[in-house]
Amino acid sequence: MIDFKKLAQEYGTPLYVYDFDYMTQQYEELKEAFRGRKSIIAYAVKANSNLSVVRHFAKMGSGADCVSIGEVRRAFLAGIPAYKIIFSGVGKSDDEIREAIERDILYINVESEAELDRVELIAKELGKVSRISVRVNPNIDPKTHPYISTGLHDNKFGVDLDSAKRMYIRANNSKHLDPVGIHFHIGSQLTELDPIREASEIVADLVRSLQAVDIELKFFDIGGGLGIKYDNEITIKPYDYAQAILGTLTALDMTILCEPGRFLTANAGYFITKVLYEKQNGVKRFVVVDGAMNDLLRPSLYNAYHEIEAITESEGALREADIVGPVCESGDFFAKDYKLPPLKHNDLLVIKSAGAYGFGMGSNYNTRGRSAEVAVEGGEARLIRKRESFDDLIALEKEFLEN
Ligand code: LLP
Repeated sequence: MIDFKKLAQEYGTPLYVYDFDYMTQQYEELKEAFRGRKSIIAYAVKANSNLSVVRHFAKMGSGADCVSIGEVRRAFLAGIPAYKIIFSGVGKSDDEIREAIERDILYINVESEAELDRVELIAKELGKVSRISVRVNPNIDPKTHPYISTGLHDNKFGVDLDSAKRMYIRANNSKHLDPVGIHFHIGSQLTELDPIREASEIVADLVRSLQAVDIELKFFDIGGGLGIKYDNEITIKPYDYAQAILGTLTALDMTILCEPGRFLTANAGYFITKVLYEKQNGVKRFVVVDGAMNDLLRPSLYNAYHEIEAITESEGALREADIVGPVCESGDFFAKDYKLPPLKHNDLLVIKSAGAYGFGMGSNYNTRGRSAEVAVEGGEARLIRKRESFDDLIALEKEFLEN
Protein backbone atom coordinates (compact mmCIF):
# COMPACT_ATOMS: atom_id res chain seq x y z
CA MET A 1 0.00 0.00 0.00
CA ILE A 2 1.34 3.41 -0.95
CA ASP A 3 1.25 5.94 1.88
CA PHE A 4 -0.23 8.86 -0.05
CA LYS A 5 -0.46 11.04 3.05
CA LYS A 6 3.23 10.73 3.70
CA LEU A 7 4.09 11.41 0.06
CA ALA A 8 1.84 14.49 0.04
CA GLN A 9 3.60 15.78 3.14
CA GLU A 10 7.03 15.15 1.71
CA TYR A 11 6.55 16.33 -1.87
CA GLY A 12 3.53 18.66 -1.60
CA THR A 13 0.37 18.66 -3.67
CA PRO A 14 -0.89 18.40 -6.33
CA LEU A 15 1.28 15.38 -7.00
CA TYR A 16 1.53 12.50 -9.43
CA VAL A 17 2.60 9.17 -7.94
CA TYR A 18 3.51 6.16 -10.09
CA ASP A 19 3.77 2.59 -8.90
CA PHE A 20 6.70 1.26 -10.95
CA ASP A 21 6.17 -2.30 -9.73
CA TYR A 22 2.68 -2.27 -11.21
CA MET A 23 4.12 -1.12 -14.54
CA THR A 24 6.57 -4.04 -14.44
CA GLN A 25 3.75 -6.47 -13.80
CA GLN A 26 1.69 -5.13 -16.71
CA TYR A 27 4.68 -5.22 -19.06
CA GLU A 28 5.50 -8.78 -18.14
CA GLU A 29 1.94 -9.97 -18.52
CA LEU A 30 1.71 -8.57 -22.03
CA LYS A 31 5.14 -9.83 -23.07
CA GLU A 32 4.21 -13.27 -21.77
CA ALA A 33 0.97 -13.24 -23.78
CA PHE A 34 2.97 -13.13 -27.01
CA ARG A 35 5.36 -15.88 -25.92
CA GLY A 36 6.07 -18.30 -28.70
CA ARG A 37 6.33 -15.50 -31.30
CA LYS A 38 9.02 -12.94 -31.76
CA SER A 39 7.62 -9.74 -30.33
CA ILE A 40 8.64 -6.23 -29.39
CA ILE A 41 6.59 -4.26 -26.91
CA ALA A 42 7.12 -0.66 -27.99
CA TYR A 43 5.84 1.47 -25.14
CA ALA A 44 3.71 4.38 -26.43
CA VAL A 45 5.70 7.22 -24.92
CA LYS A 46 2.81 9.67 -25.24
CA ALA A 47 0.94 7.91 -22.44
CA ASN A 48 3.52 9.02 -19.90
CA SER A 49 6.73 10.46 -21.22
CA ASN A 50 8.59 11.07 -17.98
CA LEU A 51 12.20 10.01 -18.65
CA SER A 52 12.32 7.76 -15.60
CA VAL A 53 9.13 6.00 -16.70
CA VAL A 54 10.55 5.44 -20.18
CA ARG A 55 13.83 4.25 -18.64
CA HIS A 56 11.89 1.81 -16.46
CA PHE A 57 10.47 0.20 -19.61
CA ALA A 58 13.84 0.39 -21.38
CA LYS A 59 15.38 -1.67 -18.57
CA MET A 60 12.80 -4.41 -19.17
CA GLY A 61 13.71 -4.55 -22.86
CA SER A 62 10.89 -2.41 -24.17
CA GLY A 63 11.00 -0.43 -27.40
CA ALA A 64 9.26 2.89 -27.93
CA ASP A 65 6.45 4.13 -30.13
CA CYS A 66 6.94 7.86 -30.64
CA VAL A 67 4.81 10.56 -32.27
CA SER A 68 7.24 13.45 -32.36
CA ILE A 69 10.97 13.80 -32.62
CA GLY A 70 10.84 15.03 -29.03
CA GLU A 71 9.52 11.64 -27.98
CA VAL A 72 12.19 9.94 -30.10
CA ARG A 73 14.83 11.94 -28.26
CA ARG A 74 13.30 11.01 -24.94
CA ALA A 75 13.40 7.34 -25.91
CA PHE A 76 17.11 7.61 -26.78
CA LEU A 77 17.88 9.50 -23.57
CA ALA A 78 16.07 6.87 -21.55
CA GLY A 79 18.25 4.16 -23.11
CA ILE A 80 15.92 2.53 -25.63
CA PRO A 81 18.04 1.20 -28.51
CA ALA A 82 17.47 2.70 -31.98
CA TYR A 83 16.46 -0.67 -33.39
CA LYS A 84 13.41 -0.72 -31.10
CA ILE A 85 12.17 2.80 -31.78
CA ILE A 86 9.42 3.61 -34.25
CA PHE A 87 8.09 6.98 -35.27
CA SER A 88 4.37 7.36 -36.09
CA GLY A 89 2.00 10.29 -36.57
CA VAL A 90 -0.02 11.93 -39.35
CA GLY A 91 2.11 15.05 -39.63
CA LYS A 92 5.89 14.83 -39.46
CA SER A 93 8.00 17.83 -40.39
CA ASP A 94 10.99 17.51 -42.74
CA ASP A 95 13.34 18.09 -39.82
CA GLU A 96 11.70 15.32 -37.83
CA ILE A 97 11.91 12.90 -40.75
CA ARG A 98 15.56 13.82 -41.33
CA GLU A 99 16.52 13.25 -37.72
CA ALA A 100 14.64 9.94 -37.55
CA ILE A 101 16.52 8.69 -40.63
CA GLU A 102 19.85 9.92 -39.30
CA ARG A 103 19.26 8.23 -35.98
CA ASP A 104 18.58 4.98 -37.87
CA ILE A 105 15.47 4.01 -35.89
CA LEU A 106 13.63 0.75 -36.61
CA TYR A 107 11.15 2.36 -39.00
CA ILE A 108 9.07 5.40 -39.78
CA ASN A 109 5.37 4.72 -39.82
CA VAL A 110 4.09 6.48 -42.92
CA GLU A 111 0.52 7.75 -42.87
CA SER A 112 -0.04 9.14 -46.41
CA GLU A 113 1.26 8.93 -49.96
CA ALA A 114 2.45 12.52 -49.70
CA GLU A 115 4.44 11.61 -46.62
CA LEU A 116 6.03 8.69 -48.44
CA ASP A 117 7.27 11.17 -51.05
CA ARG A 118 8.82 13.36 -48.35
CA VAL A 119 10.51 10.43 -46.63
CA GLU A 120 11.94 9.20 -49.94
CA LEU A 121 13.19 12.64 -50.89
CA ILE A 122 14.85 13.26 -47.54
CA ALA A 123 16.44 9.79 -47.50
CA LYS A 124 17.78 10.52 -50.98
CA GLU A 125 19.24 13.86 -49.88
CA LEU A 126 20.95 12.07 -47.00
CA GLY A 127 22.14 9.26 -49.26
CA LYS A 128 20.39 6.73 -47.03
CA VAL A 129 17.70 4.11 -47.10
CA SER A 130 14.75 4.70 -44.79
CA ARG A 131 12.95 1.71 -43.32
CA ILE A 132 9.22 2.32 -43.36
CA SER A 133 5.91 0.79 -42.50
CA VAL A 134 2.53 1.98 -43.70
CA ARG A 135 -0.29 2.73 -41.32
CA VAL A 136 -3.34 1.02 -42.73
CA ASN A 137 -6.80 2.25 -41.83
CA PRO A 138 -8.93 -0.91 -41.94
CA ASN A 139 -12.23 0.99 -41.58
CA ILE A 140 -13.30 -0.80 -38.42
CA ASP A 141 -15.41 0.71 -35.67
CA PRO A 142 -13.45 0.09 -32.46
CA LYS A 143 -16.49 0.90 -30.27
CA THR A 144 -14.72 3.36 -28.04
CA HIS A 145 -15.01 7.11 -27.33
CA PRO A 146 -15.14 9.03 -30.66
CA TYR A 147 -12.17 11.21 -29.65
CA ILE A 148 -9.91 8.18 -29.30
CA SER A 149 -11.28 6.16 -32.20
CA THR A 150 -8.86 6.12 -35.12
CA GLY A 151 -9.58 3.21 -37.45
CA LEU A 152 -12.51 4.52 -39.49
CA HIS A 153 -12.23 6.22 -42.87
CA ASP A 154 -13.60 9.45 -41.46
CA ASN A 155 -10.61 9.64 -39.09
CA LYS A 156 -7.44 11.42 -40.19
CA PHE A 157 -5.22 8.40 -39.51
CA GLY A 158 -3.57 6.01 -41.94
CA VAL A 159 -4.48 5.11 -45.53
CA ASP A 160 -7.02 2.79 -47.12
CA LEU A 161 -6.04 -0.66 -48.36
CA ASP A 162 -5.65 0.28 -52.02
CA SER A 163 -3.43 3.24 -51.27
CA ALA A 164 -1.39 1.09 -48.88
CA LYS A 165 -0.76 -1.46 -51.58
CA ARG A 166 0.31 1.22 -54.05
CA MET A 167 2.64 2.69 -51.42
CA TYR A 168 4.31 -0.66 -50.73
CA ILE A 169 4.89 -1.27 -54.43
CA ARG A 170 6.36 2.19 -54.78
CA ALA A 171 8.53 1.82 -51.71
CA ASN A 172 9.74 -1.55 -52.83
CA ASN A 173 10.89 -0.07 -56.14
CA SER A 174 12.65 2.85 -54.49
CA LYS A 175 16.40 2.88 -53.81
CA HIS A 176 15.81 4.96 -50.71
CA LEU A 177 12.91 3.17 -49.06
CA ASP A 178 12.82 -0.24 -47.46
CA PRO A 179 9.31 -1.42 -46.49
CA VAL A 180 9.74 -3.59 -43.41
CA GLY A 181 6.48 -3.33 -41.50
CA ILE A 182 2.76 -2.84 -41.60
CA HIS A 183 0.82 -0.99 -38.96
CA PHE A 184 -2.72 -0.45 -37.75
CA HIS A 185 -4.16 1.14 -34.63
CA ILE A 186 -7.93 1.33 -34.53
CA GLY A 187 -8.37 3.24 -31.31
CA SER A 188 -7.62 3.52 -27.65
CA GLN A 189 -9.28 2.09 -24.53
CA LEU A 190 -10.53 -0.91 -26.52
CA THR A 191 -12.67 -3.30 -24.53
CA GLU A 192 -13.99 -5.49 -27.34
CA LEU A 193 -11.99 -8.14 -29.10
CA ASP A 194 -13.97 -8.48 -32.34
CA PRO A 195 -12.92 -5.17 -33.90
CA ILE A 196 -9.25 -5.97 -33.17
CA ARG A 197 -9.54 -9.45 -34.67
CA GLU A 198 -11.33 -8.10 -37.74
CA ALA A 199 -8.75 -5.36 -38.29
CA SER A 200 -5.92 -7.82 -37.85
CA GLU A 201 -7.48 -10.17 -40.37
CA ILE A 202 -7.82 -7.41 -42.96
CA VAL A 203 -4.22 -6.32 -42.48
CA ALA A 204 -2.91 -9.91 -42.52
CA ASP A 205 -4.70 -10.43 -45.84
CA LEU A 206 -2.98 -7.37 -47.20
CA VAL A 207 0.37 -8.82 -46.09
CA ARG A 208 -0.45 -12.01 -48.01
CA SER A 209 -1.38 -10.10 -51.13
CA LEU A 210 1.93 -8.24 -50.89
CA GLN A 211 3.79 -11.54 -50.60
CA ALA A 212 2.20 -12.50 -53.90
CA VAL A 213 4.09 -9.63 -55.50
CA ASP A 214 7.31 -10.49 -53.65
CA ILE A 215 7.09 -7.88 -50.94
CA GLU A 216 8.06 -9.50 -47.64
CA LEU A 217 7.38 -7.56 -44.46
CA LYS A 218 8.99 -8.43 -41.13
CA PHE A 219 6.94 -6.50 -38.58
CA PHE A 220 3.23 -6.83 -37.93
CA ASP A 221 2.53 -3.74 -35.87
CA ILE A 222 -0.78 -4.02 -34.07
CA GLY A 223 -0.73 -0.56 -32.51
CA GLY A 224 -1.83 0.00 -28.94
CA GLY A 225 -5.25 0.49 -27.48
CA LEU A 226 -5.68 -2.28 -24.94
CA GLY A 227 -8.28 -0.94 -22.51
CA ILE A 228 -8.10 -0.79 -18.73
CA LYS A 229 -10.53 -0.69 -15.88
CA TYR A 230 -11.44 2.86 -14.87
CA ASP A 231 -14.85 1.97 -13.52
CA ASN A 232 -16.65 -1.31 -14.14
CA GLU A 233 -15.48 -2.01 -17.70
CA ILE A 234 -14.92 -5.62 -18.59
CA THR A 235 -11.49 -5.55 -20.11
CA ILE A 236 -9.70 -7.80 -22.60
CA LYS A 237 -7.16 -10.18 -21.11
CA PRO A 238 -3.72 -9.85 -22.70
CA TYR A 239 -3.67 -13.57 -23.45
CA ASP A 240 -6.98 -13.38 -25.36
CA TYR A 241 -5.78 -10.26 -27.14
CA ALA A 242 -2.62 -12.02 -28.29
CA GLN A 243 -4.50 -15.14 -29.32
CA ALA A 244 -7.04 -13.14 -31.35
CA ILE A 245 -4.23 -11.49 -33.30
CA LEU A 246 -1.97 -14.51 -33.66
CA GLY A 247 -4.96 -16.47 -34.94
CA THR A 248 -5.06 -14.22 -38.00
CA LEU A 249 -1.38 -14.71 -38.83
CA THR A 250 -1.44 -18.28 -40.04
CA ALA A 251 1.61 -19.04 -42.17
CA LEU A 252 3.01 -15.55 -41.66
CA ASP A 253 6.38 -15.53 -39.96
CA MET A 254 6.42 -11.98 -38.68
CA THR A 255 7.58 -10.25 -35.51
CA ILE A 256 4.72 -8.73 -33.57
CA LEU A 257 5.17 -5.14 -32.61
CA CYS A 258 2.73 -3.87 -30.03
CA GLU A 259 2.41 -0.25 -28.85
CA PRO A 260 0.64 -0.19 -25.51
CA GLY A 261 0.48 2.99 -23.49
CA ARG A 262 -2.49 3.08 -21.18
CA PHE A 263 -2.35 -0.63 -20.35
CA LEU A 264 1.17 -0.23 -18.98
CA THR A 265 0.85 2.98 -17.01
CA ALA A 266 -2.74 4.13 -16.37
CA ASN A 267 -3.53 2.10 -13.29
CA ALA A 268 -0.02 2.60 -11.95
CA GLY A 269 -0.70 6.31 -11.54
CA TYR A 270 -2.41 8.36 -8.85
CA PHE A 271 -3.05 12.07 -8.82
CA ILE A 272 -3.06 13.42 -5.27
CA THR A 273 -4.81 16.67 -4.60
CA LYS A 274 -5.57 18.53 -1.39
CA VAL A 275 -8.96 19.80 -0.29
CA LEU A 276 -9.00 23.58 0.04
CA TYR A 277 -12.60 24.02 1.13
CA GLU A 278 -16.09 22.77 0.84
CA LYS A 279 -18.67 25.08 -0.61
CA GLN A 280 -22.42 24.92 -0.93
CA ASN A 281 -24.22 26.80 -3.74
CA GLY A 282 -27.93 26.39 -3.16
CA VAL A 283 -28.44 22.63 -3.20
CA LYS A 284 -25.14 21.90 -4.87
CA ARG A 285 -22.11 20.75 -2.88
CA PHE A 286 -18.65 21.55 -4.22
CA VAL A 287 -15.34 20.27 -2.99
CA VAL A 288 -12.66 22.71 -4.10
CA VAL A 289 -9.20 21.16 -4.42
CA ASP A 290 -5.72 22.43 -5.29
CA GLY A 291 -5.38 20.32 -8.47
CA ALA A 292 -7.12 21.35 -11.67
CA MET A 293 -7.85 20.59 -15.30
CA ASN A 294 -4.38 21.83 -16.22
CA ASP A 295 -2.99 18.88 -14.21
CA LEU A 296 -5.43 16.17 -15.29
CA LEU A 297 -7.55 17.04 -18.30
CA ARG A 298 -9.34 13.76 -19.00
CA PRO A 299 -12.55 14.48 -17.02
CA SER A 300 -12.94 17.93 -18.63
CA LEU A 301 -12.04 16.79 -22.14
CA TYR A 302 -13.73 13.40 -22.40
CA ASN A 303 -16.01 13.44 -19.39
CA ALA A 304 -13.79 10.54 -18.34
CA TYR A 305 -14.50 8.71 -15.12
CA HIS A 306 -11.71 8.36 -12.55
CA GLU A 307 -12.27 6.63 -9.25
CA ILE A 308 -11.59 8.91 -6.31
CA GLU A 309 -10.70 8.01 -2.76
CA ALA A 310 -10.86 10.45 0.13
CA ILE A 311 -8.21 10.36 2.82
CA THR A 312 -9.80 11.98 5.83
CA GLU A 313 -10.41 11.43 9.48
CA SER A 314 -13.83 12.98 9.45
CA GLU A 315 -16.79 10.68 9.60
CA GLY A 316 -20.27 11.22 8.34
CA ALA A 317 -22.70 10.27 5.65
CA LEU A 318 -21.56 10.21 2.05
CA ARG A 319 -23.06 13.01 0.02
CA GLU A 320 -22.78 13.85 -3.65
CA ALA A 321 -20.37 16.61 -4.60
CA ASP A 322 -18.71 18.09 -7.65
CA ILE A 323 -14.95 18.03 -7.24
CA VAL A 324 -13.60 21.18 -8.82
CA GLY A 325 -10.28 22.97 -9.18
CA PRO A 326 -9.24 26.63 -9.03
CA VAL A 327 -9.09 27.20 -12.81
CA CYS A 328 -11.52 29.77 -14.21
CA GLU A 329 -13.54 27.37 -16.35
CA SER A 330 -16.80 25.60 -15.57
CA GLY A 331 -15.22 22.59 -17.24
CA ASP A 332 -12.62 22.42 -14.50
CA PHE A 333 -13.81 19.37 -12.60
CA PHE A 334 -12.55 15.90 -11.71
CA ALA A 335 -15.97 14.39 -11.05
CA LYS A 336 -19.59 15.39 -10.83
CA ASP A 337 -22.08 14.16 -8.24
CA TYR A 338 -19.46 11.93 -6.67
CA LYS A 339 -20.29 10.49 -3.26
CA LEU A 340 -17.83 11.70 -0.63
CA PRO A 341 -17.74 12.00 3.16
CA PRO A 342 -17.61 15.47 4.72
CA LEU A 343 -14.17 16.91 4.00
CA LYS A 344 -12.08 19.56 5.62
CA HIS A 345 -9.11 21.72 4.74
CA ASN A 346 -5.98 19.62 3.96
CA ASP A 347 -7.79 16.31 3.53
CA LEU A 348 -6.56 14.47 0.45
CA LEU A 349 -8.27 13.06 -2.60
CA VAL A 350 -6.54 10.32 -4.53
CA ILE A 351 -7.62 10.30 -8.17
CA LYS A 352 -6.92 6.91 -9.65
CA SER A 353 -5.98 5.54 -13.08
CA ALA A 354 -4.05 8.75 -13.70
CA GLY A 355 -0.78 7.27 -14.94
CA ALA A 356 -1.62 7.53 -18.66
CA TYR A 357 -2.55 10.76 -20.45
CA GLY A 358 -2.44 12.56 -17.12
CA PHE A 359 0.69 14.62 -16.61
CA GLY A 360 1.45 14.53 -20.33
CA MET A 361 -1.75 16.34 -21.27
CA GLY A 362 -1.13 18.95 -18.61
CA SER A 363 -0.59 22.62 -19.31
CA ASN A 364 0.34 25.84 -17.58
CA TYR A 365 -3.08 27.41 -18.04
CA ASN A 366 -3.78 30.10 -15.44
CA THR A 367 0.00 30.26 -14.81
CA ARG A 368 -0.10 27.10 -12.81
CA GLY A 369 3.14 25.17 -12.55
CA ARG A 370 2.79 21.50 -13.32
CA SER A 371 2.92 19.02 -10.44
CA ALA A 372 5.89 17.08 -9.23
CA GLU A 373 6.09 13.38 -10.17
CA VAL A 374 7.18 10.63 -7.81
CA ALA A 375 8.02 6.99 -8.48
CA VAL A 376 7.42 4.25 -5.93
CA GLU A 377 9.44 1.10 -6.45
CA GLY A 378 10.10 -1.72 -4.00
CA GLY A 379 8.51 0.34 -1.23
CA GLU A 380 10.82 3.33 -1.82
CA ALA A 381 9.67 6.67 -3.18
CA ARG A 382 11.81 9.00 -5.26
CA LEU A 383 11.24 12.26 -7.10
CA ILE A 384 11.31 11.90 -10.89
CA ARG A 385 10.24 15.43 -11.83
CA LYS A 386 10.41 18.61 -9.82
CA ARG A 387 7.38 20.78 -9.34
CA GLU A 388 7.48 23.67 -11.81
CA SER A 389 8.21 27.02 -10.21
CA PHE A 390 7.01 30.45 -11.24
CA ASP A 391 10.51 31.13 -12.58
CA ASP A 392 10.27 28.05 -14.81
CA LEU A 393 7.01 29.36 -16.24
CA ILE A 394 8.36 32.78 -17.20
CA ALA A 395 11.86 31.69 -18.21
CA LEU A 396 11.24 32.01 -21.95
CA GLU A 397 9.43 35.37 -21.73
CA LYS A 398 11.31 37.34 -19.12
CA GLU A 399 14.05 38.72 -21.38
CA PHE A 400 11.51 40.42 -23.65
CA LEU A 401 10.30 42.68 -20.84
CA GLU A 402 13.40 44.88 -21.23
CA ASN A 403 12.24 46.31 -24.59
N1 LLP B 1 -0.13 3.67 -31.06
C1 LLP B 1 -0.70 4.71 -31.70
C2 LLP B 1 -0.46 4.88 -33.13
C3 LLP B 1 -1.53 5.60 -31.00
O1 LLP B 1 -2.10 6.60 -31.65
C4 LLP B 1 -1.74 5.41 -29.61
C5 LLP B 1 -2.58 6.34 -28.86
C6 LLP B 1 -1.11 4.32 -28.99
C7 LLP B 1 -0.32 3.47 -29.73
C8 LLP B 1 -1.28 4.03 -27.53
O2 LLP B 1 -2.60 3.80 -27.21
P1 LLP B 1 -3.01 3.19 -25.79
O3 LLP B 1 -2.40 1.82 -25.68
O4 LLP B 1 -2.49 4.10 -24.75
O5 LLP B 1 -4.49 3.17 -25.81
N2 LLP B 1 -5.60 11.10 -24.62
C9 LLP B 1 -6.48 9.97 -24.79
C10 LLP B 1 -5.82 8.82 -25.47
C11 LLP B 1 -5.23 9.18 -26.83
C12 LLP B 1 -4.56 8.01 -27.47
C13 LLP B 1 -3.82 8.43 -28.69
N3 LLP B 1 -3.11 7.38 -29.35
C14 LLP B 1 -7.02 9.57 -23.41
O6 LLP B 1 -6.68 10.22 -22.42
O7 LLP B 1 -7.83 8.64 -23.29
